[in-house]
Amino acid sequence: MSIKKVTKAVFPVAGMGTRFLPATKSVPKEILSLVDRPLVQYAIDEAREAGIEEFIFVTSRGKSALEDYFDVSPTLEASLKASGKDDLLKILNSTNMDDGKIAYVRQHRALGLGHAVWCARRLIGDEPFAVMLPDDVITGDTPCLKQMVEAYEQTGGNIVAAMEVPVEATKSYGILDVSEDMGNMVRVKGMVEKPKSNPPSNLAVIGRYILTPSVLDTLDKKETGAGGEIQLTDAIAKEITTSNNVFGFRFRGERYDCGSKAGFLQATVAFGLARDDLKDEFSQFLNDIVAARKAAQ
Ligand code: G1P
Repeated sequence: MSIKKVTKAVFPVAGMGTRFLPATKSVPKEILSLVDRPLVQYAIDEAREAGIEEFIFVTSRGKSALEDYFDVSPTLEASLKASGKDDLLKILNSTNMDDGKIAYVRQHRALGLGHAVWCARRLIGDEPFAVMLPDDVITGDTPCLKQMVEAYEQTGGNIVAAMEVPVEATKSYGILDVSEDMGNMVRVKGMVEKPKSNPPSNLAVIGRYILTPSVLDTLDKKETGAGGEIQLTDAIAKEITTSNNVFGFRFRGERYDCGSKAGFLQATVAFGLARDDLKDEFSQFLNDIVAARKAAQ
């Protein structure tokens, strides 16, 4: 059986981002930037490198800044051109999206991640698709989604990004119950969203998925799970009983949880230190600040 190419990605960005209030009172969380690139831009760049051609955003009220961000800005372009700021123009152009390749659908009610993905069902159609949660920023030599697409081309089925987390953190994630450990891939026999106790493992789902369209049929039933929400984890878990075709993928790379303040700060430091134009000044500052704190203790 030939495996259909993954060309569509869904970006659920409807959340209110309350953890980042007051910043998120008027700015969507996904526009918050690591150094100078919005979180959502990192996700888009990763998707493009994985061969994604169509980008589907599931938004909500108050997220229009996201749509503007992906729009061309003729005035800004003209002004940069006129003043010969070619380097800035290049940066600006790196955010341009091809015409007709980006779509927005609203999630009218905050009924959970599974519901957000379900809202995109008509745009996804009957083909495999990726889901990317921009809060999870992942760095590495090969972009995480590209690694997953390569794995998908070998195995088909449903693949979720996975990484080991401390046992006490398992209550914040979808957790995998593993039936067969093959190293970077594991076959999954169960999935539990945010287990309050007795997690089946410490292998957590991270916000990158490649899913088969039958997951959308399960989501169509609108069954609620943890927290009274329609959970994507539960719909994927259903695939285990119907096709036994669910895998966890231990990606190579560093993951930053930019949905938390501490994770966002860690990513900011890491991205600042990785930038040629900033690293000398920034690392000097970090050394100084750490030394001063030590001296004061
Ligand atoms: C979501 C998923 C969860 C997953 C996590 C990864 O939870 O529901 O299964 O482990 O993303 O970041 P959220 O963090 O949005 O509550």
